[in-house]
Amino acid sequence: MKLHCSVNDASVDAEVPSRLLLSDFIRHELKLTGTHVGCEMGACGACTVIVDGSPVRSCLMLAAQADGSSVRTVESLAGTPIGRLLQQAFSEHHALQCGYCTPGILTTLTAAFESGKLPADEHAVRDLLSGNICRCTGYVPIVEAILDASRQMQSSTVLANSGGTHGQK
Ligand code: FES
Ligand code: FES
Repeated sequence: MKLHCSVNDASVDAEVPSRLLLSDFIRHELKLTGTHVGCEMGACGACTVIVDGSPVRSCLMLAAQADGSSVRTVESLAGTPIGRLLQQAFSEHHALQCGYCTPGILTTLTAAFESGKLPADEHAVRDLLSGNICRCTGYVPIVEAILDASRQMQSSTVLANSGGTHGQK
């Protein structure tokens, strides 16, 4: 099937098998291996990418279904205002160990932050992260990092500077 979409603001034209998963297309065809694959059944959230502004499990979506869409992977966050903020918060709070879950968490957070969803307390953070499994950290440092980043977002111009969208360096 023909696929025309944008991935990380680059135009992509491809011929894809009708049953090719978006996660496999991103990793194997586009070589964007920051998107991780864990369960391949929609449970772990490691494969989360942003499609037209919403977090999507790329293991549950066919590549062909992305036709006409804007897809962003964790690689697109590098150097963006939100990406920098999250990177700093995760580093300061030691919010990752093996890092396998981290790309999916960061894309989930970015989609939420860009839509103005800024969790204000631990319950809200855990609710936001309910679709992302981490086997290493026990979640406490992740929750602290996200609360820190969310507070900074609320009290700063990060969102305005990000343009509320993607691809800004
Ligand atoms: S690999 Fe997609 S949700 Fe686990
Ligand atoms: S840091 Fe290892 S799975 Fe989350």
